[in-house]
Amino acid sequence: MSELSVKHLLGIKYLNESDIQLIFETADHFKEVINRSIKKVPSLRDITIANIFFENSTRTKLSFELAEKRLSADVLNFSASQSSVKKGETLIDTVNNILSMKVDMVVMRHPNPGAGIFLSKHVKASIVNAGDGAHEHPTQALLDSYSIREKLGDVAGKNVVIVGDILHSRVALSNIFALKLQGANVKVCGPKTLLPKYIESLGVGVETNLRKALDWCDVANMLRIQNERLDISYFPTTREYTQQFGVNKKLLDSLDKEIVIMHPGPINRGVEITSDVADSKQSIILNQVENGVAIRMAVIYLLASKIK
Ligand code: CP
Repeated sequence: MSELSVKHLLGIKYLNESDIQLIFETADHFKEVINRSIKKVPSLRDITIANIFFENSTRTKLSFELAEKRLSADVLNFSASQSSVKKGETLIDTVNNILSMKVDMVVMRHPNPGAGIFLSKHVKASIVNAGDGAHEHPTQALLDSYSIREKLGDVAGKNVVIVGDILHSRVALSNIFALKLQGANVKVCGPKTLLPKYIESLGVGVETNLRKALDWCDVANMLRIQNERLDISYFPTTREYTQQFGVNKKLLDSLDKEIVIMHPGPINRGVEITSDVADSKQSIILNQVENGVAIRMAVIYLLASKIK
């Protein structure tokens, strides 16, 4: 297969296993490119991409922008907080105004779940979801699986536990879809209040004892406690959460195998993981960020080939 089955990247839910393998093979090529002395290719010289962010971002925004520039696309950056959205302009009007400047692709982060799906039905450009509320964050899940593949050789058959606030996490949902598609065994672990009731219907196991989860896994993906999405108290105190669900070096070293530690960032150091875990040789957190550029180059390149 040499092309994606989709025109937009709205969620991992809409991809198949062949799409993921194609993205990974394309990312392998781009990873080699960005490690050369000349890190740029002319592939998308005729493509214009708008990055529109209605929520804060460091990694995703910079990674998309760099990926687009490495592919020689023309890039527009739009931040809602400095725009006419503040004067009441709607999402569709905002995007249609941007598109009238002959933009081919829109990369969007938005606080509302389904914002990218909504947009894809109302505008002509190809839409890439860079995180929509607590729904999906597809490029994060792709770079996470790609990093597991790079570290452990394969994703199929690996035991992966996702720890923390599963209820509010777009990273968790996209990772579950991506890992299951590739044949990984997946568990979620966290306080019962932060584990959605439907989660087992997605084919994942549930564990509320962190020690047992870590004994089982090859990879632990530690999620951030998203204080900005916690409308009520889901656990007594942050200190108590850390005692039950935080990974420190003593716990990591007490396991009888070397597990891989992942985190999508931003890290709350000392809450979900301690600094000596985040910075340990078992952590691939910065490899995830590095791989994000190659994965996003692959996604943009493959989607652009469908609009040419
Ligand atoms: N992982 C991630 O989405 O980070 P940002 O919010 O900084 O983009």
